[in-house]
Amino acid sequence: MMTSTITADNIERSYVVGKNTNHVLKGISLEIYPGELTLIIGPSGSGKSTFLAALSGLVRPDSGIVSILNTNIWDLPEKAIDAFRLKNCGFIFQGFNLFSSLTATEQVMLVLKYQGTLGDLAVKKAMAALAEVGLEDKAHLRPLEMSGGEKQRVAIARALVKNPRLIFADEPTSALDKENGRLVVQLLKQTARIHNTTVLAVTHDPRLMEHADRIVAIEDGRITKDERNSKSEMFGGLASELS
Ligand SMILES: Nc1ncnc2c1ncn2[C@@H]1O[C@H](COP(=O)(O)OP(=O)(O)OP(=O)(O)O)[C@@H](O)[C@H]1O
Ligand SMILES: [Mg+2]
Repeated sequence: MMTSTITADNIERSYVVGKNTNHVLKGISLEIYPGELTLIIGPSGSGKSTFLAALSGLVRPDSGIVSILNTNIWDLPEKAIDAFRLKNCGFIFQGFNLFSSLTATEQVMLVLKYQGTLGDLAVKKAMAALAEVGLEDKAHLRPLEMSGGEKQRVAIARALVKNPRLIFADEPTSALDKENGRLVVQLLKQTARIHNTTVLAVTHDPRLMEHADRIVAIEDGRITKDERNSKSEMFGGLASELS
């Protein structure tokens, strides 16, 4: 039996806007495993991003327990939650969230700086992470000089460089064309396989689904489907495709 790295137990979350209470998460329980790409799908407004944020220490649930790597994260003081995320979690977002004035290498090194890794070692680690996503030749470029797919690969390198146990991605491919979207999914899956990372991604993108190991559907704040994809396997030839 595989041991889960994330356990969500009966997560509830509402948003109060004016006089209205929007009950977004209505008691979601789920276990997520390392070494695979788990995809959360569902209609717009169904609570996918809220759920991902609750699982990754970004949005506090009203009730329920989130356990990551055997730590009940919402029981920790705020600062400890931040430190936990910094140490264990990588994040990838739809809009890439890169700094316009920094080169690819510098974007990736910034994460290492927060963790106290500086100098030659930081450069070496950043270059290795950029090589892993096929960007060793673009390391000196700034976001304006890169394509959308390249920017998202920098964001992935930035998530990878600290070798996190978990990676969370919210709509990582929705700003990308078909080919770049496929490449990003392949990288996420390769990361799960090679580093035994727990990769959890939220998407609308049907192109992602065939490559996921497991698909969890959320509708109206509840899980409506939880399926394994038996056809999903390791991609061949990714390294040669990237070079
Ligand atoms: N900070 C907030 N304040 C108030 N309401 C919010 C907030 N964040 C989300 N909501 C509401 O919660 C519901 C779920 O939002 P959420 O972003 O989780 O949906 P989603 O499934 O990710 O949608 P999409 O696919 O469009 O990204 C929506 O009705 C949204 O308006
Ligand atoms: Mg969303």
